[in-house]
Amino acid sequence: MAKDLDWGNIGFEYRKTDKRYVSNYKDGKWDDGVLTTDNKVIISEDAGVLHYAQECFEGLKAYTTKEGHIVIFRPDLNAERMYNTAKRLEMPSFPKDRFVEAVKQVVEANIDWVPPYGSGATLYIRPVMFATGEVIGVKPADEYQFRIFATPVGPYYKGGAKPIAIKISDFDRAAPRGTGHIKAGLNYAMSLHANVTAHAEGFAENLYLDPATRTKVEEAGGANIIFVDKDGNLVIPKSDSILPSVTRRSIAYVAQHYLHLKVTEREVLFSEVPHFAEAGLCGTAAVISPIGLINDHGKEITFSNGMEKAGPVISKLYQTLTDIQMGNIEAPEGWIYRIK
Ligand code: PLP
Ligand code: COI
Repeated sequence: MAKDLDWGNIGFEYRKTDKRYVSNYKDGKWDDGVLTTDNKVIISEDAGVLHYAQECFEGLKAYTTKEGHIVIFRPDLNAERMYNTAKRLEMPSFPKDRFVEAVKQVVEANIDWVPPYGSGATLYIRPVMFATGEVIGVKPADEYQFRIFATPVGPYYKGGAKPIAIKISDFDRAAPRGTGHIKAGLNYAMSLHANVTAHAEGFAENLYLDPATRTKVEEAGGANIIFVDKDGNLVIPKSDSILPSVTRRSIAYVAQHYLHLKVTEREVLFSEVPHFAEAGLCGTAAVISPIGLINDHGKEITFSNGMEKAGPVISKLYQTLTDIQMGNIEAPEGWIYRIK
């Protein structure tokens, strides 16, 4: 039976749901994988993940549509990104078709936890892979675990659709030619101190500049950034050290093909930012969170929408993207995987 949570107020938190998928890698191959109720992981004190941070993860969502179907948004892109991430970390990539199949199994097994249509909550799906094999010298482990669990979540940035205030970080989340473009836990470890500092100062997030020159806009700690110029067109920062966000790539398509905006992906100088009309953070967890202001060492960059509501273009993008995700308008071919 569907769970009876206060869906409008669940926050972005972990809840132990019924089943998770687990597959182990040993002797050069992944085993068949099982669904289990056990949310605990028991590993050696010498497991590679504990010493050399051999770990990566993904994030995607399942939704209830107006008609009551349960759907998943573009799991194939997460499968592909995790495949590439694992390669960069010298971990054995999990086969992409098996990734998608396992995501479907986890959603099916936790169907009662998928929040109802219109509740503002969604089912967040978290695939994670880590080195379980023992290593003491610096080298890749030879045993790994791949696991997928799911948890119902509300908005990632408090305030939901209200614009957020963010700050320019004095720390970097990625290095030039480092791992900023993959979804490795180590990138987030890098960002935790900056994150706690920003929150303590009253900001929702950090915006990072490029680590090499600190003149270009990169992304936020947990989301990509997008801008709308004075002509109402979309400008997307391009960089080798930011995560290739599924949401951002989907927004670029939606902007071009549904809203007929011009979309430009290019390097964005931080000095250009005051000239943009609107800005937003985008990601699976963030969806599209409008930005009200960016604090640059005490100097405030504000956008025309102010702190009460999103601007017109970010609003339209948000509406169209979420209408596609929730099945209210037709999705591009292959974006929506129906479970039920
Ligand atoms: N950038 C970072 C650093 C993230 O953690 C995320 C979250 O996944 C994103 C961007 C957004 O990516 P996606 O839209 O694929 O969730
Ligand atoms: C996601 O959006 O899926 C993420 O992984 C972001 C994370 C900061 C929660």
